[in-house]
Amino acid sequence: MATHKLLLLPGDGIGVEVMQEVKKLIAWLEKRGVASFALEEDLVGGAAYDAHKVSITDAAMARANAADAIIFGAVGGPKWDNVVYEQRPEAGLLRLRKELDLFANLRPAIVYPALADSSSLKREIVEGLDILIVRELTGGTYFGEPKEIVTLENGQQRAVDTQVYTTSEIERIASVAFELARVRKNLVHSAEKRNVMKSGLLWNQVVTRTHAAKFPDVKLEHILADNCAMQLVRNPKQFDVLVTDNLFGDILSDAASMLTGSLGMLPSASLGAEDRATGKRKAMYEPVHGSAPDITGKGLANPIAQIGSFGMALRYSLGLVEVADAIERSIARVLQQGHRTADIAALGEKTISTTEMGDAIIAALDRELA
Ligand code: NAD
Ligand code: IPM
Ligand code: MN
Repeated sequence: MATHKLLLLPGDGIGVEVMQEVKKLIAWLEKRGVASFALEEDLVGGAAYDAHKVSITDAAMARANAADAIIFGAVGGPKWDNVVYEQRPEAGLLRLRKELDLFANLRPAIVYPALADSSSLKREIVEGLDILIVRELTGGTYFGEPKEIVTLENGQQRAVDTQVYTTSEIERIASVAFELARVRKNLVHSAEKRNVMKSGLLWNQVVTRTHAAKFPDVKLEHILADNCAMQLVRNPKQFDVLVTDNLFGDILSDAASMLTGSLGMLPSASLGAEDRATGKRKAMYEPVHGSAPDITGKGLANPIAQIGSFGMALRYSLGLVEVADAIERSIARVLQQGHRTADIAALGEKTISTTEMGDAIIAALDRELA
């Protein structure tokens, strides 16, 4: 049996709590003889800052580079509000994404049948929803230069962030979206603001060209990003794959999470380009949510986004597609059985803790793999 080399980076806040459930699941898979893992763990975010005064060490970056997959928790929190900008917890996450060139962030938003009433939208709007946001993750305003705050002669301060995209950056993320659409409903919406942004104009043109040259069989729609936000809550089922830039993708995916019932439901995969020689790609798996300081330490965190992210690692990096499928079915099963963490519970409904949800998923998996 192949041994898969995983690096776990729990991070801060509920990142640590939801990663605990993944560790339990990994231990269980090994004990059951389903898969074999070589585990490493390291610090990132505020935890790394507290120990080393940097948001991620070079040693942790080297481990990340060598891993078959990285499982990331979450970083950040009020404790580090006054840390120097370059070493704030979030910088560790951005360094991982940039240095490993994890340009394609896949954020599926699926409404499980049992949760069709957990969304803040009406059942008929969200029932059966299955959309995939493909977020560009290593460019745009997150990384563009200049990025600075300068003090002017008149004493005013001036802050600058720069939105930059090149042809190749747009082309590679668009290609990922079109390829994924081919094995889904064959529809891609591309969201930008070509009406006010040059980068939006180029985005639109390159997506159009990529489509015509390589993916004419896929249906393509262009949509302005503000309208896209509105359409996501008006009629989300019109979408299949939604490709967009780093910042719009961040915002639109948090909005999409509420269609599913909770931000605690959304997993993601951050993927690099495939190495032609080995067929492998660098990859990090991270829930869409953050460290949730408001619920940290209370056992309230929903571990499904983190467990779902681990499932995506099995699917996309480790070749364990059947186990990934079984984990998906186990999540659906426990929800069907009525297990609810507080974030997905209806008013007055009985809730369970982070740990209990992890246990319930493992119990369901035990039956799935029997
Ligand atoms: P957040 O995602 O941490 O929380 C937003 C809201 O969603 C909170 O009310 C929280 O309790 C709830 N929530 C999030 N995940 C949940 C879960 N699994 N189960 C139940 N409820 C959940 O966003 P925020 O509060 O804006 O940010 C807090 C910190 O997290 C900030 O420092 C931010 O930079 C950081 N952050 C990190 C990541 C990441 O590491 N990938 C992502 C987003 C935000
Ligand atoms: C996310 C987060 C991150 C982002 C932050 C923590 C840097 O919000 O993964 O969605 O903005 O990309
Ligand atoms: Mn975000």
